[in-house]
Amino acid sequence: MDVVIVKNYIEMSKYAAGLVGECIKERDQPVIGLATGGTPIGMYQLLVRQYRAGLLSFKHVRTFNLDEYIGLEPAHAKSYHRYMQEHLFSHVDIPPDQTFLPDGIAHNLRMECRRYEKLLKKIGPPDLQILGIGENGHIGFNEPGSDLDSGTHVVRLAASTRKANARYFQSLENVPTHAITMGVKSILRSKKIVLLASGDRKAEAVRRLLEGNPDPDFPASALYQHPNVTLIADEKAFYS
Ligand code: F6R
Repeated sequence: MDVVIVKNYIEMSKYAAGLVGECIKERDQPVIGLATGGTPIGMYQLLVRQYRAGLLSFKHVRTFNLDEYIGLEPAHAKSYHRYMQEHLFSHVDIPPDQTFLPDGIAHNLRMECRRYEKLLKKIGPPDLQILGIGENGHIGFNEPGSDLDSGTHVVRLAASTRKANARYFQSLENVPTHAITMGVKSILRSKKIVLLASGDRKAEAVRRLLEGNPDPDFPASALYQHPNVTLIADEKAFYS
């Protein structure tokens, strides 16, 4: 795992946006794996800025998101569908039918997981997968103790994840209890993985990750099985 330490959140966002931009420019039909949450917002802002400056086009990009909450309509203010519209898709020239997210309101969730995994295999795997890290070490919504050999599946969110994500909702009770997530196995199929970590809240997870011990109770440790992973951590996430 390569480790890049940058000064702060802005520098982390610039570095990540640079890697995404490069990947898009180098390929005719790039496939990018995307994350949501607070961490990549600055990266998306910079990508939108590059697009507006005429430096980048998303016309031929296909995107796969890691996860979606179960029970939230795509238009719901806190769904990841809506997040992606607000932070990237509605601001750039990506055709809507080239953006993929799991459907959190599918009637048959098991079939939806299968559909998404198949699509990932057909169109993907991502040339570049962006990841954040949970304070508990989750990647996507692969929570501690989950099967690290799984494809896209339904998960019950850990109490710690619901608590951490309550800051994005009105209250803890509003945070969904379940989600669909790409599995660790699906994530590891990506050609390159970039893991972002910013702020002192992530310092413990970064410290544990860098111990390098494979540990099913710390899903991010599975990233050591992949030959091309870069952790971009800011000073607070690295030194706190
Ligand atoms: C989001 C995702 C999660 C987040 C993680 C960190 O699509 O899959 O793994 O990356 O929960 O979230 P933030 O960035 O909000 O701290």
